[in-house]
This record gives sequence, C-alpha cells and structure tokens, in this order.
Amino acid sequence: MPVIEVEDLTFTYRRAKEPALEHVSFSAEEGEFIGLIGPTGAGKTTLCMALTGIIPHTVFGKMQGTIRIAGMDTREHEVVELTSVVGLVLQDAQAQLLMTDIEKEIVFPLENIALPREEIGRRLEAVLNLVHLEELRYLHPFYLSGGQRQRVALASILAMEPNILVLDEATSELDPVGVEEVLDVVSELKARGKTVILVEHNMEELVRFADRVIVLDRGEKIADESTHSILTNTEMLSKIGIYPPQITSIATRLHERGISIEKLPLSLNEGIALLDMLMEGRPIS
Ligand SMILES: Nc1ncnc2c1ncn2[C@@H]1O[C@H](COP(=O)(O)OP(=O)(O)O)[C@@H](O)[C@H]1O
Ligand SMILES: [Mg+2]
Repeated sequence: MPVIEVEDLTFTYRRAKEPALEHVSFSAEEGEFIGLIGPTGAGKTTLCMALTGIIPHTVFGKMQGTIRIAGMDTREHEVVELTSVVGLVLQDAQAQLLMTDIEKEIVFPLENIALPREEIGRRLEAVLNLVHLEELRYLHPFYLSGGQRQRVALASILAMEPNILVLDEATSELDPVGVEEVLDVVSELKARGKTVILVEHNMEELVRFADRVIVLDRGEKIADESTHSILTNTEMLSKIGIYPPQITSIATRLHERGISIEKLPLSLNEGIALLDMLMEGRPIS
C-alpha cells in the first residue's frame, strides 16, 4: 500500500482567484525518495503544506480531492496527530527556533504530546546523534551557524519519529558548509529507508538522492518520471526555466554536435565514465 496517496487535489487559497494546485494526483511507496521541482509559484510549498495537513487545518482555502498519509485522510486528522507520521522542514525552519537551548527545542514538542520521560530521553539521544549535535546540546541557538540551526530544526521534527519527511528548500538559505551538513542527515535518512519528498532547486543535489521527480508548473503536475528521464529532458526543463546539471548540459551539447551518447550523464562520476569511454583508443595530444 502506498504511504502517500494524493487524489485529484485542487486547492484555492482563501481570497485567491486562481487555484494554487489543480487536479494533482500521485502516490508514493514506502522508502521512495521523490524530488519535487518547478518554477517559483508552481505550487510546491502549497503541496508540502497539504501533505502535512497544514492545509486545510491551519492555512485555509478550498480543498478538493483527497490526501491519505499512511492511510490517514488528512482532512479527518489533526496536524498534531499527523506530525508523528509526516514531518515538514521549511526553508526558514531555523528562524523558528523558540527555546533557549538545543535540548529544550527537541524535548518541548515531545512533552507536549505527553510522552513518558524515558521515551523522551531515548528520542533526544537518538536525534542528537543523527544530526551530530551531542556536544552542543546546551548551547543557545543564537551561537549556532545556519547549518547547525537547521539541523536543530530537523532534529526536533525527527524526534516525532515520522516515517515520511517533506523538505521544502530546507538548504536554500545556508552557506555551502551548512548545505552539506544538512544533506548528510538527508543522506542518512535515505539510507534508513524513510520516505522523503525533497523540494530542491539545485539539480546536482537532487541527482544525489532522488529516484523519481515530480514536476509542477502553474499548479499542475506536468511530469512524474525517473530522475534520469526528467533531468535529461532539456526541452521540458528549459520551458519551465530549470537548468539541468552542468555535466548533463555539456553532454547534451556534444550529442547535438554529432557525438553519439547512449545515456546522458547526470553526475560528475557518470560524466567522467562517459569521457573515458569516448576517449578510449584515441591518442591524447
Ligand atoms: N497564503 C497565500 N494566499 C494566497 N495565495 C498564495 C498563498 N501562498 C501562495 N499563494 C499562491 O499560490 C501559488 C503557489 O505558491 P507556492 O505553493 O508558494 O509555490 P512555490 O513553492 O512552487 O514557489 C502562487 O501563485 C502563490 O502566489
Ligand atoms: Mg516554495
């Protein structure tokens, strides 16, 4: 049974004229890692909020269609209930830290759902370990870097032990070191078989993780295919103003100039393998 089922979802924000999402349907199996891309205003954040029940419970509008998360109809379950099944990490999650130290930030939501003390302790240690912040646990978030703060935000969401995680441009406000720190955690979650929806505008980063990519444009789902198939579809990508990975663009150029390339590379490693193959048997002068 799929863990995410979106059926004919149409959503119009209160007072908006046009729907932000129109007739969107897709499903995801447990453990799938799905990239979500599209130009600004395409509806990515709206979809993320719908997947986590924020729409329709906290952000209002007219919602048609159904979303089931682990079999739960999001309309019929409160957001607090859904947070133990699906977590949402926002771009500015780090700006929303409330507490005076990292530990409290993680423990507070767990106390709110009245978990036993031992269970809270167990989860605290587990997530601090996962995001590599054990040593900084008593620090005020003020003293942390952007990447560390975003990892605290991530840890407090993961402490709810959701099986599904939605990341909405969660690294876009970070410096390169911060991006790597957060992506390391994402990589660990993938290894642990979590189901992940990743909104990401850096295609190089998407390639590292996503098995499949859903493309939104003006509220509609315009494609839903393997990462390779989407990222080598230069025509579609350029129509919506998204650049493929640089190595893919270079190989596409070579291909257009008559060098036959069977499978376009997405990553640097695939690019190097391709060059080796193309250069085989030719003297390099
Ligand atoms: N709170 C809101 N009220 C009305 N319209 C909104 C609201 N938030 C977003 N929108 C509109 O919904 C559409 C989709 O926005 P969004 O989901 O934020 O797209 P993306 O995340 O892909 O950039 C846009 O046209 C945007 O202007
Ligand atoms: Mg957005």
